[in-house]
Amino acid sequence: MNQNQLKKLVGKKSVEWVENKMVVGLGTGSTVKFMVDELGRRVKEEKLDIIGVTTSNVTAKQATELGIPLKSVDEVSHIDLTIDGADEISTDFQGIKGGGAALLFEKIVATNSSKNMWIVDESKLVNKLGAFPLPVEVVPYGSQKIFDRFEQNGLNPTFRKKIDGGLLLTDSDNYIIDLHLGTIDHPHELANYLNKQVGVVEHGLFLDTVDTVIVGRQDGPQVLQ
Ligand code: 5RP
Repeated sequence: MNQNQLKKLVGKKSVEWVENKMVVGLGTGSTVKFMVDELGRRVKEEKLDIIGVTTSNVTAKQATELGIPLKSVDEVSHIDLTIDGADEISTDFQGIKGGGAALLFEKIVATNSSKNMWIVDESKLVNKLGAFPLPVEVVPYGSQKIFDRFEQNGLNPTFRKKIDGGLLLTDSDNYIIDLHLGTIDHPHELANYLNKQVGVVEHGLFLDTVDTVIVGRQDGPQVLQ
């Protein structure tokens, strides 16, 4: 199986955890796309009765087209389960997310969910976080100052750009600065530092967040808890 087939495998598998009447957080990304497809199939064919809470405009569009009823995070009293992708997951279950620039809404939905599940192909499992550039969402005003500070602190920042070379804007009209760190030895310390920077809206360190990981392996999906 290639990477895409592994993503499809875990995307479909994860929907087995969704039950009637649940409020389900719907993440973002190419793996989540398969999950939303399967959820849409169950809503249509099995009359599965759920409410989805999306984490990006892209997922909202897909879910709407598939007939999945949606509410915003502020319109629901709780979220039972959020299913999302990840860019890296370390052996101690910490994660980097935001490769698809949806980290802000993803973290809001995740922190308001009773349970969080991540679905990944096996290439996302790492010993230590940091090979994947850590996304940091920043308010445009003053973003060059934050960038300069990151550079002075040796965090190797780059502004994320679109294909046409312009700066990428998130769904909330912010910029993304990616930190090229190599390895992150102390993720909680780094998270505390980033949380203190004025102008940083959110960062892609998702620490102590996930309950269940489904890994796509050649011999089938592996559930880690
Ligand atoms: C988007 C994310 C994605 O979940 C993450 O980038 C994984 O994406 P993919 O499933 O396409 O590999 O955090 O902000």
